[in-house]
Amino acid sequence: MQRRPYALLCLWLSLALATLAATPAQARETAPAQQSPIIDYNERFLPIVGREGMVVGPEQLATEAGKQILQQGGNVVDAAVATGFALAVTYPRAGNLGGGGFMLLHLAEGNRDVFIDYRETAPAAASRDMFLKADSSEDLALEYFSLQSSGVPGTVAGLLYALEKYGSMGREQVLAPAIALAEQGFAVSFALNYELAARADRLHRNPEAKRLYFKPDGSPYQIGEILRQPDLAWTLRQIAARGKDGFYRGEVARRIAAEMQRGNGLITLEDLAAYRAIERVPLRGRFHEFEIVSAPPPSSGGVHILQILNLLENDDLAALGHNSAAYLHLLTESMKLAYADRSEYLGDPDFVDVPVAALTDKAYAARQRKLIAADRATPSARIAPGRELVVESQDTTQYTIADRHGNMVSNTYTLNASFGSAIAVPGTGMLLNNEMGDFAALPGGANMFGLVQGERNAIAGGKRPLSSMSPTIVFRDGQPWFATGSPGGSMIITTVLQTILNAMAFDMNVATAGTSPRIHHQWLPDELQAEQGISPDTLALLRDMGHTVKAGGRTIGRTQSIMLRDGWLLGATDPRRPGGWVAAY
Ligand code: GLY
Repeated sequence: MQRRPYALLCLWLSLALATLAATPAQARETAPAQQSPIIDYNERFLPIVGREGMVVGPEQLATEAGKQILQQGGNVVDAAVATGFALAVTYPRAGNLGGGGFMLLHLAEGNRDVFIDYRETAPAAASRDMFLKADSSEDLALEYFSLQSSGVPGTVAGLLYALEKYGSMGREQVLAPAIALAEQGFAVSFALNYELAARADRLHRNPEAKRLYFKPDGSPYQIGEILRQPDLAWTLRQIAARGKDGFYRGEVARRIAAEMQRGNGLITLEDLAAYRAIERVPLRGRFHEFEIVSAPPPSSGGVHILQILNLLENDDLAALGHNSAAYLHLLTESMKLAYADRSEYLGDPDFVDVPVAALTDKAYAARQRKLIAADRATPSARIAPGRELVVESQDTTQYTIADRHGNMVSNTYTLNASFGSAIAVPGTGMLLNNEMGDFAALPGGANMFGLVQGERNAIAGGKRPLSSMSPTIVFRDGQPWFATGSPGGSMIITTVLQTILNAMAFDMNVATAGTSPRIHHQWLPDELQAEQGISPDTLALLRDMGHTVKAGGRTIGRTQSIMLRDGWLLGATDPRRPGGWVAAY
């Protein structure tokens, strides 16, 4: 019965699309807007429409695995766990067992929001100066590409915690797609072939990583060739059979600890056995009629998204105009204020005091708003005493799941750099993260309050490194409305911010909201990055205001988003990278 309106809508959509495609652009401009209750055909980008359930992610096979689980009667959490494990097989640059992340859930029953922190922890033997050379400079190779780069992985604990507490299916069922993909193999896509070729140098340095992802002659698997991962299938089977203990104790744990001992790594059997996913209270804030629910510390994401929205709330953004110079100036100046605070105040709340309430207070924003000049960029050096923020990698990944009842999952997880430390644990098929690089390896330099910058994010055993990952769900008039998130290191915050602002303040659909050109400023370096697609006239006006604009460089973020509107699921995968997929039914 429920299929009939969907079939009719599909028919109507395909007829309308066919008409649109056949209509000359000029005629389209002058024709009255074709409106459906859910899609405005005059927008440049249209979402994929689903009726019952939807999974949006960076790769097709894992997204379809999540959809399969929904169709088998699983809930959004079952699908999220299945997708997370499947991405570890099909998307090795960021999908993982050896990394960590954050999962934000909205559960329609009981109207609950839940945040699961499965960020990696520093091994007990980690120490504040472990990445400093004798001359006190940072040893970047040790920090990012050694066995010491890895925090204790959190992904398996986090996904299983979600499944056991909020899922409805057994481990065997949700792990089955991942095991099949690892055991039977899958045809290598354009995107995977490209990523392996691009990172061949790094992956070849570790014989196990080379063996896993390259052919015996060292060349990457070509498009359409089958990549099988029997060691990874074995690890997944340990998890399916024994749950958390299958990874954190027993043979998998022994293999990780043995690899650590081989190469001066710090993770021990005790570190693995001690790892826990933590359920935290998500952050909430308001922007006009919208309620934003996002990631609390040890993410900096939610704090600064809310802080920037507070700074912008009393300006008429729509009147300024989307991506006008006036709007981008205000946005940039707000980003600078927030990122200056980020460098000072954020860290693992289980180790340091993070003044979340003060930073997200609207009265604080009102005071800070006065620091923004209407037509002049304030140099970053005058906003706060400066030092470079910790360099963060862009290679994290996001997937988003929703069903028609308003259950939503936004999950961001990561190995940090693309393929993490590029070191694989022999016999597990698994790459290790280099999340230790997200700590401040070199805290130092007092700010005007006499506090040492970055001290809250200094390394300590058992601590979680500061993250920017920002899985976010926006509610409109109390109803779950828009779920999103992104990779991009420190650019995650500004990506998620602009995506939800595009929908909230500029009324864009989910596809246009995620696709529109973005900017990024993180206080230091004092540089406004602007993606391709922002007009040269606008950039010239921004330069006239004193902004140092770097235009047309790397793209900013890669969102995976779902909007729930009038009972329809509208999904969009960001076209900034190949291979993204919306699996809908
Ligand atoms: N490793 C990227 C982040 O956690 O923000």
